[in-house]
Amino acid sequence: METEKMISSRKAVRQYTGQITDEQLHKILLAGNAGPVGMGEYDNYRLTVIQKSDILKQMNGIYDAPTVIVLSAKNPGAMEDVSAGAIVHNMELAAEDQGLGANYNMASVGSIPSGVVPDGFKAVFALTIGQTAEKFVPREIPMDRIKTNIVK
Ligand SMILES: Cc1cc2nc3c(=O)[nH]c(=O)nc-3n(C[C@H](O)[C@H](O)[C@H](O)COP(=O)(O)O)c2cc1C
Repeated sequence: METEKMISSRKAVRQYTGQITDEQLHKILLAGNAGPVGMGEYDNYRLTVIQKSDILKQMNGIYDAPTVIVLSAKNPGAMEDVSAGAIVHNMELAAEDQGLGANYNMASVGSIPSGVVPDGFKAVFALTIGQTAEKFVPREIPMDRIKTNIVK
């Protein structure tokens, strides 16, 4: 999808109809790796793909998503929180560009069972993903959805 169309078509999708393929996952992970991080310190971050139902069942607020990708960071602060947003957003776009449903997820972060995220890393942000019946068509976005002041 071309960039402008993709940006206006993306949306939070919370209803999933099945598991994603490994090829689809690969493209999503590649997009995450293409994301920007503060100071270019990529080793401060880890991605964990959770597709194991025993673990998913223990996670809050994931809308029965068959795949959750968790972004974790070493000693997360403001820099890591913002970087996590950029990485997860890249992955969300890559998922929906392939016709998958995806959504940003903070709700599950505190309920990820111990031992899932690598030692020394703390979960910051997550993405829920799955097949969906939703269609992606450009949305009318009000210009004042985010109130803006221009200083010039
Ligand atoms: C930082 C952040 C955290 C979010 N956490 C959740 C969440 O835990 N659960 C959820 O259903 N949606 C979550 N969302 C999705 C937002 O609710 C959604 O993006 C917003 O309502 C706008 O809708 P849209 O994405 O369809 O434009 C989160 C979004 C962001 C950016």
